[in-house]
This record gives sequence, structure tokens and C-alpha cells, in this order.
Amino acid sequence: MTAHERSRRLLEPCVGSDVVDAPTPVAVVDLDRAEANLARLHGYTQEHEIALWPHTKTHKSTVFGQLQFDAGAVGLTVAKPGEAEVFADAGLGPLLMHFPPVGELAWRRLARVAGEVPLTVALDSHGSAQGLSGALAAAGTRADVLVELDTGLGRTGLGSAEAACELAQAVDCLPSIEIVGVSTYPGHLRGSLDDLRPGLEEMNAMILEVREEFAKAGVSCERISGGSTPTRYLTHETCVNELRAGTAIFFDRQSAASEPSLGLEACALSVEVTVISTSVPGRVAIDAGSKTLTSDPHVDGGFGEVVGHPHLSIIAFNEEHGYIDTASSDAGLVVGDRLSVIPNHVCACVNLHDFVLGARGGTVEKLIEVEARGLVR
Ligand SMILES: Cc1ncc(COP(=O)(O)O)c(C=O)c1O
Repeated sequence: MTAHERSRRLLEPCVGSDVVDAPTPVAVVDLDRAEANLARLHGYTQEHEIALWPHTKTHKSTVFGQLQFDAGAVGLTVAKPGEAEVFADAGLGPLLMHFPPVGELAWRRLARVAGEVPLTVALDSHGSAQGLSGALAAAGTRADVLVELDTGLGRTGLGSAEAACELAQAVDCLPSIEIVGVSTYPGHLRGSLDDLRPGLEEMNAMILEVREEFAKAGVSCERISGGSTPTRYLTHETCVNELRAGTAIFFDRQSAASEPSLGLEACALSVEVTVISTSVPGRVAIDAGSKTLTSDPHVDGGFGEVVGHPHLSIIAFNEEHGYIDTASSDAGLVVGDRLSVIPNHVCACVNLHDFVLGARGGTVEKLIEVEARGLVR
């Protein structure tokens, strides 16, 4: 029996029961909150006629992918061919793979995906485009292509209008692909709306320049894909017409800290944990460490927010243990107490779980498989 099957066998009986009776540690999604988060984002994009292509890296699950379509998304974004396969095999598309595909196998797998659902690929090199084109042509399928721009993150993407236009012109004539626009990920921009604006203006100026170059060269720049959770509500001030915010379905401790108006109440995913030891003075041990919550840091320190206990801090992690400082708090925790922890970084946390419990009002409504978990290839 695989680990995955064992997890299913353990967690399936939780459906219909109280969340507090589920074995810990276990990730729980408050479905009302997730749906409210999606509705808010969709309301914004609808008002400004921006197409929503949420990044699925945050949930890696077809259940939430479907929920995003139900809430008004027009497509889903993925990072790897393995993720694309999960959503395409479930009939969920169109898909945007926002990661430069490199290598025969990746190109062939994407060509198969393109046979199942409409596919767009963002890339930044001639080699990626040529390989993809060849595989698509051999499979008798096709894909749209966005030329990725680096507008400041320094990760992938072309850093000048000339380079972007040169690539677009060079690959637009290849069979089975068509350049339809550009994309960028402003992951370097964090902070308040006022902090974000100057960086977004720079990003916008570069995209406008690229659009002009594309127009001169006769290359289509109809689609301009961008955005992130921190910048989502400023998208309409730019020329971006497709928004890929991903974290905004669940949010996390990091988002709540950088966006105070959000509040922890918007955080839809938490991990239920249990106090397993109080033997060491000044601290208690819980049954979740870096293998459950990740060791991603937080600007204010700590490895997660203990819900309802703002004075309790998770001060350290081992792989399977977490340590809560109780020296300065009289929370009176005893062995067996259950706590709920909002992770620092929800996307990385979800990737550690085969299943999450979907709950409403404290009752488990369904077991949700994280089908794309670990599919990094
Ligand atoms: C290419 C790309 N698009 C969109 C996103 C979503 O950003 P966020 O997590 O801020 O919602 C990411 C996040 O890593 C990304 O890499």
C-alpha cells in the first residue's frame, strides 16, 4: 500500500465528523473562506475586465481548480508538465504553463497535454520554442506562446524589448505555435499598494515598449499575462489583461503580515496539531515540524501563527516536532491540547500533504486530494 493510500484510509472516515476529531497533524481548508477569497478576486477582475488565470501551485488540486473555474477563472496556470498533466487529465483547461520547457520529454508531454486542453506556454528562449514546436507538430497539436519578460525579479524572462521582439520574430514562423503576447511575474514587488506602485509602473513601461515593438514587427501582443497576490488589486492600473494570482485562494501568515487589511480571518488553510509534550520548562512540543509546515521563515520570526493565541510563538522546528515558547504566556497548554496553525507559506505547506480536509463550520465536508503534490518534473 502506498503512503498516499494509507493517508486516504486514515482520513476518509473524518468526512462528516468534527475537524477536532481528525488525526493530527492534518491540513484543513475552511471552504467558506476559500470561496469568499475567490469571489472577492473574481469581483475585482470582472469589474476591470481582466481575465483570471490563477496559479495552481497554491492548492495543486483539481477540486480547487474546478472551484476557480466556477468562480470565474478562464484558465489555470501551472509550473511543470506534471502539474499540467494532472489538470488536463481531469479535463480542466485551458492551461498556461509558466515555466520554460526544456528537453525532449518535457516537450512531448506538453504536446500530449495540448491534445487534451488548449495550452499556452510562457518561455524565453529559441531552444524552448523550437523543441516545443517540433513536439507539437509531431503530435498534431498546437499551443499559444507568451514571450516571458524579466521586469525586475531576475529569475527567467528577457530583460529588454529588443531581445523579446527578436525572439518573437524568430519563433513566430515555427509550426504549431503562435506568439500571442507576453508574460511577466512581478515576484520582486512586495509591500503596501503605495510601495508596489513604482515597481509596477516600471514593469508597465517595459511591457508597453515591448507591445510597441511587437506591433512594428507584426507580432500579436493581445495577451499580457502578469500579476501576483501582492499586486493583484493594482492590475487595472497596468496594461496586464490576465492575472495569475495564486496564493489569494488561501493566503497565509506571510500574506496577512504584508497586507494588514486582509487579517488572519482571510487565511483559509490551517494545520491542526496536538501538544505532545510539556516536559521541558518554558516550551511545549507539538506533533508538526518542518515536514508538515515547512521551515519557511517569516519577517516577524516564528514558524506559523497559532490561531487564537497571538502571544504564543512557534520558536523552532525539527522535522517532526515544533516548539512553542510558553515562558511568557500563561496559555496553560497540556498534553493532548489541539491547536490550529496558519503556515508561513501556504503553497510550500500544501505540497507536503497528500490530502487536505475541506471543512465548513468545523465539520469535515470532504477529503480533497492534492493530486499534483510533489510533481516537480
Ligand atoms: C509565474 C508565476 N505566476 C504567478 C504566481 C503567483 O503569485 P502569488 O503566489 O503571489 O499569487 C507565481 C508564484 O510563484 C509565479 O511563479
